Amino acid sequence: MFPASTYIKRRKSLKESVKSGVLLFLGNEESPMNYLDNTYHFRQDSSFLYFFGLNYAGLAAIIDLDEDKEIVFGNDLTVDDIIWMGTQPTLKERGQSYGIQDVRPMAQLDAYLSKSQQSGRQIHFLPPYRSESIIKLYHLLNIEPSKTKELSSVEFVLGVVNLRNHKSTEEIIEIEKAVDISVDMHVAAIKLARAGMKESELAAAAQQVAVAAGGQISFPIIMTINGQTLHNHYHGNTLKSGDMVLCDCGAETDLNYSGDLSSTFPVDHHFTPIQKQIYEVTLRAHESALAKLAPGVPFRDVHLAACRETVVGLSELGLMKGDPDEAVQAGAHAMFFPCGTGHMMGMDVHDMEDLGEVYVGYDGEPKSTVFGLKSLRLARPLEPGFVATIEPGVYFIPELIDLWRSENKCTDFINFNEVEKFKSFSGIRNEEDVLITPDGYRVLGKRKPKTIEEIEALRK
Ligand code: GLY
Ligand code: MN
Repeated sequence: MFPASTYIKRRKSLKESVKSGVLLFLGNEESPMNYLDNTYHFRQDSSFLYFFGLNYAGLAAIIDLDEDKEIVFGNDLTVDDIIWMGTQPTLKERGQSYGIQDVRPMAQLDAYLSKSQQSGRQIHFLPPYRSESIIKLYHLLNIEPSKTKELSSVEFVLGVVNLRNHKSTEEIIEIEKAVDISVDMHVAAIKLARAGMKESELAAAAQQVAVAAGGQISFPIIMTINGQTLHNHYHGNTLKSGDMVLCDCGAETDLNYSGDLSSTFPVDHHFTPIQKQIYEVTLRAHESALAKLAPGVPFRDVHLAACRETVVGLSELGLMKGDPDEAVQAGAHAMFFPCGTGHMMGMDVHDMEDLGEVYVGYDGEPKSTVFGLKSLRLARPLEPGFVATIEPGVYFIPELIDLWRSENKCTDFINFNEVEKFKSFSGIRNEEDVLITPDGYRVLGKRKPKTIEEIEALRK
């Protein structure tokens, strides 16, 4: 945990950005898998954790801006609980570690909020993403479940986003821990792969590294020979000679900060010549995105630089043609690269996606609805302290190729006869995590094997 002063300072900064009313924070509950006592791994709400530090279920908190109070609501364990769960510190004892002096039983939350509402004060809440939080808002504030998003407080969201988007030095240290473990997860999988193994064996090896380091995975592991499917969580295929494996996985530390990396490697000792050529295109796109990173540069331009370099590389291979700028303008690259170059990362692997990409990644500006650009999660001008991923890729998605071909889409820029030969190629992506610094950027954590030489050296 960070020192209590960190949490006190975060709450103070938030209080300075939202003017009046009561800020309501709902912690997460345990989530049953198949019956009440058999639960998934507990994951605290990231904003609750950011401001209050308490990493267990059954809590709520308020910051009363008008009366300058910070209160955590929760119940201490009964003897029945202690028999099953062991001795635990009280809420009061735990709260003190995070600078919280005022703790009260959960039963008092309802009355506190009702009294505040009756006196005409605004209760600000964040958009909930779990059904139990939606139900709590109904019981506590009489908010219709279908209205929780539109009635959530934009002022509160912006206050949280502005703080959490700028990572402090102690947060960067924690994120780099997560990235270092994530690199080890990748290296373990890259070294282990052999023809005849199941994808699940590689996924298990990667997860073992995260858990052994005292954390967890930051999202379900992607470990697939079908890398053309962007988020493929199936692990049942057997690796065979000639395949490539796309591994997209990361660790979450015990303070719940994430890493998020992707690698693509051959099942054989070496990439095939054509795999190397496409790999080099993705690397060039990756490096062109990195080269753009600096404060003040809109991440949309970073993305467009990666798109342009992808077009140039694919044109050299005969898969695309025409003027690269016009091809990007027409969105032709999106058949090969239908997603974004990166996203914010922090306590959430897609940081604060629950609070709204438009606020986190677009500074309130609307997102594009154009195919490709609509999947870009980050577009705003970069600022020192932002942490983001860089993850351009090239994907040959048979259904998308067939659709575009049948619609004669972007025929000025795509050589469909050539592309046809790549329909079983799969996909390639590298991903690294970067910090925007006052002078430019820094790739976080230890180096992830990225070049063809670095990958093949691990495949011996
Ligand atoms: N690494 C998963 C994602 O960025 O969506
Ligand atoms: Mn990512």
